[in-house]
Amino acid sequence: TIEFKVDSIVNIMTLDEKIGQLNQYNGFWDITGPLPKDGQAAQKYDHIKKGLVGSMLNVKGFKDVYALQKIAVEQTRLGIPLLFGFDVIHGYKTISPIPLAEAASWDLIAIKKSAQIAAEEAASVGINWTFAPMVDISRDARWGRVMEGAGEDSFLGSKIAEARVNGFQGDLKSTKNILACAKHFAGYGFAESGKDYNTVNVSNELLHNTILPPFKAALNAGVKTFMNSFNELNGIPATGNRYLQRDLLKGEWNFDGFVVSDWGSINEMIVHGYAKDSKHAAELAINAGSDVDMESYAYVENLKALIKEGKVREQTLNESVRRVLRVKYELGLFDNPYKYCNDSIEKVTLGKTEFQEGVLDIAKKSIVLLKNENNLLPLKKSGQKIALIGALASDKTSPLGSWRIAADENSAVSVLEGMKNYPNNELKYAKGADVAIGRTEFMWETLINNVDTSGFSEAIENAKKADVVIMVLGEHGLQSGEGRSRADIGLPGVQQQLLEEVYKVNKNIVLVLTNGRPLAIPWAATHIPAIIETWHLGTQSGNAIAQVLYGDYNPSGKLPMTFPRNVGQVPIYYNYKNTGRPTMSEPDSVFWSHYIDEKNTPLFPFGFGLSYSNFEYSNITASKNILESNQFIEVSVMLKNNSSVPGREVVQLYTRDMIGSLTRPVKELKGFELIDLGPFESKRVTFKIDEKMLAFYTANNKWETEEGLFKVFIGGSSDAKLETEIYFKK
Ligand code: IFM
Repeated sequence: TIEFKVDSIVNIMTLDEKIGQLNQYNGFWDITGPLPKDGQAAQKYDHIKKGLVGSMLNVKGFKDVYALQKIAVEQTRLGIPLLFGFDVIHGYKTISPIPLAEAASWDLIAIKKSAQIAAEEAASVGINWTFAPMVDISRDARWGRVMEGAGEDSFLGSKIAEARVNGFQGDLKSTKNILACAKHFAGYGFAESGKDYNTVNVSNELLHNTILPPFKAALNAGVKTFMNSFNELNGIPATGNRYLQRDLLKGEWNFDGFVVSDWGSINEMIVHGYAKDSKHAAELAINAGSDVDMESYAYVENLKALIKEGKVREQTLNESVRRVLRVKYELGLFDNPYKYCNDSIEKVTLGKTEFQEGVLDIAKKSIVLLKNENNLLPLKKSGQKIALIGALASDKTSPLGSWRIAADENSAVSVLEGMKNYPNNELKYAKGADVAIGRTEFMWETLINNVDTSGFSEAIENAKKADVVIMVLGEHGLQSGEGRSRADIGLPGVQQQLLEEVYKVNKNIVLVLTNGRPLAIPWAATHIPAIIETWHLGTQSGNAIAQVLYGDYNPSGKLPMTFPRNVGQVPIYYNYKNTGRPTMSEPDSVFWSHYIDEKNTPLFPFGFGLSYSNFEYSNITASKNILESNQFIEVSVMLKNNSSVPGREVVQLYTRDMIGSLTRPVKELKGFELIDLGPFESKRVTFKIDEKMLAFYTANNKWETEEGLFKVFIGGSSDAKLETEIYFKK
């Protein structure tokens, strides 16, 4: 068995070799953290030869992976193969929509497929481990990394975590699957003021009910690795957090894979003011359950001494080593260390036609129609003069979004190119204004907002003569992502000004938003008649957008994150608590929970998205009103497509627990169904509700369902109005 094999290796390993398995180095080419020090490359080769390295990150391409694996296998005493990790977040060379966009599809099959495509491409270049999925829940659109997650909701986030883990890992024996990694454990998405890497202070209740469930879902789906996090959580850095890693993850949850630190996060505990030096940081991290050191050099330089001094028990080290070796066995690396190294597979796999079709499919499904006054969309296919405006309309790199890894610059289909597939309209393009300035080929580049308005006049002239104006505005792909938090979440640069100037000459505007986070665009939401949210959609972006604009695909996406009216409302999310002084329809005083200068409601709520069809909900019914343990209640609703356009609706089920031992949210997503309906077709959509679905982490510090009254809502967004009641009786 694997355990026997693992033990037999551990028994013959020297202390140095054991520590080596816990040491991970960055490759020599790509950087996804602070730049390494000079002269480290030679030392790294030397360490690999001596068996002092267990895994690498950021090495890509069959040749480089093969060369390093050969050293590990042929030149080290025990020949233990290396793991090769990489941030394959939404594709390797063929890029899928950013994860937040994919979450807007609510289509778990398409999301799994997208992860499979990414895994197969990455595997073909020697990568056997992705640092994905990021399953951090976040309610703060200022945080740049919301683009990498599934949005604000734990239930949707858990389903998506499961789909992504299954897509990446699938059958680990296959050469098309790779290890997945649930990150960042835990709390990273709750950085104070949405500023990346910032302090996280959350209650036990929020931690268990909101932050942890997607991690648990990833674990249940069999994820083999976890990554801890840069942030501190309630005063203890996640990397040194014993409760999270040892007690909960490896203890209560029984996780048998391994935990990798984030880039340099072991040594960052010194900067946090938690460890006095690298040696102390290593001691804290390994004792807390952090198995592998990514780029801190803390384990390789200090663990031996710590063991000799008795500060770390050899048993603790052995346990971490066992975890790493177990995963290597499960991946089949001991049977064939070169299973991912095959030149001919790399050549035929990258960019395959079927991958292009797969990413186009999910790109279309990720688009959300936010507004469509007077059915301005879809566009007529002929006889129209169309003015296309915006630097992002012709950009072939921005749609790849952050974490585009091995995709070539300019490899995405632009909106301009996509629109040209419909040649019977007259199309005129003008940039209007740049969005941001900077070198987009570098992952670490900070883009600067453009202030030049000299291109406005050409755009305005084109708009004057057009029947319809399409304005593609938003964030460049590198304006969201790691290290890209924003204090202002409006349209960057001079784009708002451009929009308002064009509106003065032609009000028939379709605003195509492209961004990595919810934006606060209250003016546009009021004035512009049609708006579609297209995020950063990846390689096939322009084709997907054009097909939606022209009605060859009927949009079906729903927002996975609330859009605020004003950045001052952030964090704004649908499953808030009622407070003792909730929103009043007719306030009789100033003493209620509100702003004096802004509404409480969002611009667009979680779960919201329109369609070219017209979906109507009616007649909610429950099969009975009292729910007992081991039973279920069926709650159903009538859904009608009251239009001649076939379409898909994401029907959503929410509950509200009226009284709890801890206060409960006003609504919680508990289920959803994707329903396809033909012209004027109707269907009764039914959900089953059982005790387990109503459970939460209670004042008893455990998951349980409390007796009492629950409201049940079904509808097409978190604003669902149809409701009924059930009573759970123990
Ligand atoms: O996987 C990432 C992580 O999400 C952020 N820091 C760097 C890691 C490796 O590139």
